[in-house]
Amino acid sequence: MDNNDENNKLIKSAILAKDNAYVPYSNFRVGAALIDEQGREFSGCNVENSSYGATCCAERTAIFKAVSEGSRKIRKMAVICDQDEYCRPCGICRQVMSEFAAEDFVLLSARPNGEYEVFSMEMLLPSSFKLDRQEE
Ligand code: THU
Repeated sequence: MDNNDENNKLIKSAILAKDNAYVPYSNFRVGAALIDEQGREFSGCNVENSSYGATCCAERTAIFKAVSEGSRKIRKMAVICDQDEYCRPCGICRQVMSEFAAEDFVLLSARPNGEYEVFSMEMLLPSSFKLDRQEE
């Protein structure tokens, strides 16, 4: 599969994931899908809570699903919302992405019509916080 096909497929998965968004408070649906270094795909939606701070964004839902199934390096992620604009990840999600981003990680920030813009991790979160870690 070439890069364009892979990107379009990942965006379609993010659109499907968006349908499961649990958004009784904002009614703002977000979907995300990722591919890890083994080529495995995971997706996620935002899951809100009446205690607003307990809400989990779509990107983190997808990342935590992947990590809890053994993924450690994410190669690519697509994110999409319902509004007619390119969906950008929030600051907390950028920080979580940076923890698991592969060297060549790219984020596809997509619009409902399937158009997308591509961001590297350095573009999303320049000069990010790093802590020494034991190799996993
Ligand atoms: N949201 C995401 O899912 N991803 C983001 O990057 C930004 C915000 C969700 C959280 C909440 O359910 C709704 O969008 C409004 O903030």
